[in-house]
Amino acid sequence: MAKEGEAVCVTGGSGYIGSWLVRFLLERGYTVHATVKDLNDEKETKHLEALEGANSLLRLFQIDLLDYDSIVAAVNGTAGVFHLASPCIVDEVRDPENELLAPAIKGTNNVLTAAKELGVRRVVVTSSISAITPSRYWPADVVKNEDCWTDVEYCKHNKLWYSLSKTLAEKAAWEFAKEKGLDVVVVNPGAVMGPMLPPTINASMLMLLRLLQGCTDIYEDIFMGSVHVKDVALAHILVYENTSATGRHLCVEAISHYGDFAAKVAELYPEYNLPRLPKDTQPGLLRSKIASKKLMDLGLQFIPMEQIIKESVESLKIKNFIS
Ligand SMILES: NC(=O)c1ccc[n+]([C@@H]2O[C@H](COP(=O)([O-])OP(=O)(O)OC[C@H]3O[C@@H](n4cnc5c(N)ncnc54)[C@H](OP(=O)(O)O)[C@@H]3O)[C@@H](O)[C@H]2O)c1
Repeated sequence: MAKEGEAVCVTGGSGYIGSWLVRFLLERGYTVHATVKDLNDEKETKHLEALEGANSLLRLFQIDLLDYDSIVAAVNGTAGVFHLASPCIVDEVRDPENELLAPAIKGTNNVLTAAKELGVRRVVVTSSISAITPSRYWPADVVKNEDCWTDVEYCKHNKLWYSLSKTLAEKAAWEFAKEKGLDVVVVNPGAVMGPMLPPTINASMLMLLRLLQGCTDIYEDIFMGSVHVKDVALAHILVYENTSATGRHLCVEAISHYGDFAAKVAELYPEYNLPRLPKDTQPGLLRSKIASKKLMDLGLQFIPMEQIIKESVESLKIKNFIS
């Protein structure tokens, strides 16, 4: 629970994960400085302003990740920062430097610099499994864990710009923490799904929507398991509140292949005539039910894949993305 009157900043508070995090923080009594890209865009603000407690505990700030002063204004007066804002583009990218790399890496440096300058106690950085895999040199007989890092050269060669942006941004965060002595902890979620609070659809829910529409992509390089959006939000709060939490935290209900996920969707929703995909879509990826042991040890009980899928499909229906 929040210390009396404690204020925290959530960058990317308008986003898919950010909205659930803001909601849980308000429920716990935190004062929340949530950042949005455009204060005049109701698609970014309305669902946040409708949250319980928003009237008294929520303040919205407009930031651009490349504009340091805008970030200072949002972080000022807070004891903790959750840094989620980062462009999430996994489709074709025309200008990787400006669309992805600069906002992710310079944005992270700007947020951490502001946090350090303003005396913030702890920063939780939202990285991704995209900073863990693809990793060519990981031993074939060992389940991937927090010691595993994405192969940067592989990303450059295969134009995996999103994975490159998340990997370099997380590396920059660790470098900053070490050099400047800032308390940083990291959460590395898998494919995040579940009920949507914003009116727009994000990249991971789009993955499920496309599958339901018959798309045969197997996301070979960017899938390592799914996780419920509420569990991701809770994971952020757990690593913030537990001073014993350190380092990276893999956040998936299990390490699984996209083929496992697609097969479960097909079993639960035969009416959508899903494509038949191979089961082993991530060659060499060892499956594990206890991969997120660090978060389990902090008390997180992960919602299983079946429930993640059911709540996601329900949300896609409610928001009229499918009928
Ligand atoms: N969804 C997943 O499966 C998944 C998995 C692992 C990690 N993550 C990470 O989790 C975080 C949140 O992802 P999400 O799924 O919630 O995506 P999202 O809904 O697209 O949220 C991204 C947020 O970042 C903000 N943002 C992007 N570029 C910005 C910029 N230049 N300046 C200021 N704000 C900017 C967005 O603002 P607008 O809404 O105004 O565009 C949005 O609030 C990201 O760091 C992502 O890499 C996501």
